[in-house]
Amino acid sequence: MLIPQDWQSYTPTEHATWDSLFARQVQMLPARVAPEFIDGLDILRLSRPGIPDFDELNERLVSATGWSVVAVPGLVPDEEFFDHLANRRFVAGRFIRTPEQMDYLQEPDIFHDVFGHVPLLANPVFADYMQAYGRGGQRAAGLGAIRRLARLYWYTVEFGLIRTEAGLRLYGAGIVSSYGESVFALDDPSPNRLGFDLARLMRTDYRIDDYQQSYFVIDSFEQLLKQTLETDFGPLYAALDGQSEIGVDAVMDDDVVYWRGTQDRK
Ligand SMILES: [Fe+2]
Repeated sequence: MLIPQDWQSYTPTEHATWDSLFARQVQMLPARVAPEFIDGLDILRLSRPGIPDFDELNERLVSATGWSVVAVPGLVPDEEFFDHLANRRFVAGRFIRTPEQMDYLQEPDIFHDVFGHVPLLANPVFADYMQAYGRGGQRAAGLGAIRRLARLYWYTVEFGLIRTEAGLRLYGAGIVSSYGESVFALDDPSPNRLGFDLARLMRTDYRIDDYQQSYFVIDSFEQLLKQTLETDFGPLYAALDGQSEIGVDAVMDDDVVYWRGTQDRK
């Protein structure tokens, strides 16, 4: 299912689209994103103009953490996706959105996949978390629990926030690759911002059609990795099956509340 990136075939318009998206995000992100993300941009030299060439990118990424980026034609089946992650391969689309789609995309493109996801793969702790997630996915597939585990990915890898000395910061790829959500997730009064709790979050559905109504805040990447490695997911899945689902906008009595959202944006 892997395809060549075929970097030579990108048009000047496609490279210019990357450059516009990149310029807009890097101008806004430094005061909003986890410092490890900025470090990753530097380590991987992603600020060079144009769509990154995976061969060049991988030289730096492999030497940082042993991860590499591989191109795929479209959506990858779950088991294949988990196998890639478990072997430190991140799958990315090779296409880029059109200039008319700067702010809205139905499926992830190379800007989301590479700009959003790859900088943190240069961080050793986050890199280990992603591999642990892939291995967890392989086990979840055997337990019929992929739907639950997918929520962990969604609320961390795609839409996670992290606590820092300077305040809450973004790290989820779905946020950092979106101009609108980079502002909304941190500044808007509408969404909840709640402490990360693995079991709670796996009872919580998510939105695929709009910005999230709740974001979950980790203390550190070390916390995220440690909990993922130390949790015995089999008994946890079984226990969760006996519990009710939690609404996307709900705040529970034992949630750690950084911000109780007004939920004005529905
Ligand atoms: Fe993504």
